[in-house]
Amino acid sequence: MKTENKLMIRALKGEKTERTPVWLMRQAGRFLPEYRKTRASADGFLDLCYSPDLAVEVTLQPIRRFGFDASIVFSDILVIPHALGQKVWFEEGVGPKLQPLQSIADLEKLTLDNLHSHLSPVYETLGRLREDLPKETTLIGFAGAPWTVVSYMIEGGSSKDYAKAKTWAYSNPLEFDRIIDLVVEATTLYLIKQIESGAETVQIFDSWAGVWPEFALKRWCLEPCKKIISGIKAVYPDVPVILFPRGVGDSYPLFARESGADALGLDTTLSPLWARDNIQSHVTVQGNLDPLLLVAGGSMLDQSIDSILSAFTDGPFIFNLGHGILPQTPIEHVEQMLKRIRG
Ligand code: CP3
Repeated sequence: MKTENKLMIRALKGEKTERTPVWLMRQAGRFLPEYRKTRASADGFLDLCYSPDLAVEVTLQPIRRFGFDASIVFSDILVIPHALGQKVWFEEGVGPKLQPLQSIADLEKLTLDNLHSHLSPVYETLGRLREDLPKETTLIGFAGAPWTVVSYMIEGGSSKDYAKAKTWAYSNPLEFDRIIDLVVEATTLYLIKQIESGAETVQIFDSWAGVWPEFALKRWCLEPCKKIISGIKAVYPDVPVILFPRGVGDSYPLFARESGADALGLDTTLSPLWARDNIQSHVTVQGNLDPLLLVAGGSMLDQSIDSILSAFTDGPFIFNLGHGILPQTPIEHVEQMLKRIRG
């Protein structure tokens, strides 16, 4: 099937589709027993990301089981700092760790020189997926937004309050701009190459956008994402871009009007009716079921699905979660959800 005729792509281009396309953020990995099996056969998590055979397999697993309308390539947002030359590793049971950037001298050690060679396994995975996916399934590439990636680069891992990164930004904004700018450049090149390799749309995850006051949100989340999107559109004007500025609350309409994204991922806390009037009127919306409702199942899951569907049914809409699927999600609840959406 031609890309432009796929359900997910038509929704991204602003069409109200005859059926609601559905996929789940973080659907590859995390909650499937077949993922844990493949994961155990790899040397480590990053090894899995950089092995096209394994990454293709893990990407296809949720499609085989559930027939989602879109498939997101298996990788991680932290392959960008890794490709720039920063030390990145995953500790079992802990999560990602990075040798933190502590001064601008540490930034100067990073380079774009090896970007594409380092990331070539991801490009190969995308190319193979285009051959292996069912013909109607849309292939999504992705990257982290600059701020979300930079937060890991400075904090050295996950953080509760982003104190180091935010203090650096507020006390030395020009230095912080330079760090963000490097990631903007790397991410733009990376996403363009993902499209060249087979991705039919790309999603930018700004998972930690919700921690800034408005002026900083504009400078370090909106502006960098806008630059990436216009960089992509300069080369691929017809490829839709999805932006997930998680947690930005009443700034969502600003992102809808100004980011240049074709679609916004809505987080769990947004009211569907408010989002219909203030966001869906400008761009396609994607979301926004609470991942914990999918863990809990039962009648509250059904009711929540119904209210999301009824709010967004008259405009361009893609069903998804408000954040990534959780590892403890029962498979039967995903089946219950799909039945409810597909009728
Ligand atoms: O959708 C998919 O599953 C495709 C692959 C994907 C992964 N990470 C694989 C992964 C995607 C889209 C991501 C995005 C990602 N990674 C984000 C943004 C989205 C979000 O959830 O907010 C962030 C912040 C990261 C950074 C990261 N990677 C963390 C914090 C962790 C540890 C906790 C966790 O999410 O499991 C990872 C590891 C990671 N990335 C795993 C997977 C399948 C688990 C690794 C394992 O198997 O041990």
